[in-house]
Amino acid sequence: MRQTRTPETFRVKSFGCQMNVYDGERMAELLGEQGMRAASEGEDADLVVLNTCHIREKAAEKVYSDIGRLAKAGTPMIAVAGCVAQAEGAEIPRRAPGVDIVVGPQAYHNLPELVRLAKQGQRAVDTDMPIASKFGALPERRRQATSAFLTVQEGCDKFCTYCVVPYTRGAEVSRPWTAILDEAKSLVDHGAREIILLGQNVNAWAGGDDKGRDQGLDGLIRALDALPGLERIRYTTSHPNDMKESLIRAHAEVPKLMPYLHLPVQSGSDRVLKAMNRSHSSKSYLEIIERVRAARPDIAISGDFIVGFPGESDAEFEETLGIVAAVNYSQAFSFKYSARPGTPAAEMDQQVPGEVMDERLRRLQALLNTQQLAFNQASVGRRTEVLLERPGRKPGQLVGKSPWLQSVHLETEAAIGDLVEVEILSAGPNSLAGAELMRVGPSGHAAKSPGLGSGLPGGNPRVAAFEGQPA
Ligand code: SAH
Ligand code: SF4
Ligand code: F3S
Repeated sequence: MRQTRTPETFRVKSFGCQMNVYDGERMAELLGEQGMRAASEGEDADLVVLNTCHIREKAAEKVYSDIGRLAKAGTPMIAVAGCVAQAEGAEIPRRAPGVDIVVGPQAYHNLPELVRLAKQGQRAVDTDMPIASKFGALPERRRQATSAFLTVQEGCDKFCTYCVVPYTRGAEVSRPWTAILDEAKSLVDHGAREIILLGQNVNAWAGGDDKGRDQGLDGLIRALDALPGLERIRYTTSHPNDMKESLIRAHAEVPKLMPYLHLPVQSGSDRVLKAMNRSHSSKSYLEIIERVRAARPDIAISGDFIVGFPGESDAEFEETLGIVAAVNYSQAFSFKYSARPGTPAAEMDQQVPGEVMDERLRRLQALLNTQQLAFNQASVGRRTEVLLERPGRKPGQLVGKSPWLQSVHLETEAAIGDLVEVEILSAGPNSLAGAELMRVGPSGHAAKSPGLGSGLPGGNPRVAAFEGQPA
């Protein structure tokens, strides 16, 4: 290992899931507290943190080409964080000697100390999963974007046979109630108007509230609903087996909870689901969707799918298309199965050939894209609230989100962070265009009837197309 001077600037690059994005923000805050400055765009940073993902082979292998590029460019200090760091540990600097620091997802509060060690040319590898949580050792939240992530649950005990997460993130742990609510207040004080509660299995969150009562995720959501200045609440990712009745009810009862549910099913075949150790069936999944839709008829459903799990036959793949047709998704993520070292599925016979997976993925994505476009087109003519999140491409244009997580582009004099009432004029596969009708005051939702879509009489977004508007 090389000796180097104290880094003055840093850059954190996060890959993978939203929990990595959250961890990346916390690492940046921690380094900032040490007196380091985030490198501006185009500027070479003294310290680059690659916050990595191990979920599929491609993601994990990308790390090494990124390290190679940074080393070649003469980056003084390279750190590997995230799930590849956890999975491969000290193997990383052996394979890629340019790496100075390796730090796992449960150990990154030690990053300042690791930087000090690396500076002296000492071994700086920390992949401990300590009993005491890292959160207490992290600094206060800083200036926030309109929509902020907040990790409330980490780890996974489900052990799906294809998945590395239980190994890279450890056992399921829920953060304490008060710590979460304090962080939420801090996020809102620093500019957040929407909070997205995160967890590998976020709906497995459980804990006691400030009065000692047992609570589930819905309890947290209800407590956040009372937070002044907060407009919207979302949560992700949920597991079907943790979709409790009280959480489903929250979708009917909590005004700030947005009508959107990401509920991965992975496959429509019960044989495949069993081999995946998903411990739910296609039928029990569909029943959950039905109950959620009964509670909140306009809810947008999203999901994750894997094609080409070992042994998946043509007929079993057709069952996946079948469940997609039955659910009608507003959005979804689909992946080719990737064999991961150390997982049971990687050892299974009958790995599906690449060309077969390619063809299945193409057909699945074609169907999902059709559903997504239809969902967006059904928004045309609707009046809805949009939370403005970022500048658009053209001057005077801003981009925000509908309650159903669609990106909406519009011309407006309102500011980022404002809620505006918008009429949707046209829809594409990935976004909508709208015209501003009026500004909505702070906590506009509170004035609306609970459980119904923003400003919609019947709560169902699939209203007739608006005539005479450009498509
Ligand atoms: N805890 C979440 C998912 C976390 S991983 C859940 O169970 O719903 C995100 C997604 O990556 C998974 O839903 C799955 O669709 C996909 N995935 C996980 N392991 C994979 C693998 N080995 N190959 C391909 N896709 C995978
Ligand atoms: Fe992975 Fe399954 Fe856990 Fe999701 S529930 S993180 S897919 S093991
Ligand atoms: Fe990837 Fe780790 Fe998230 S493997 S998907 S970064 S939990």
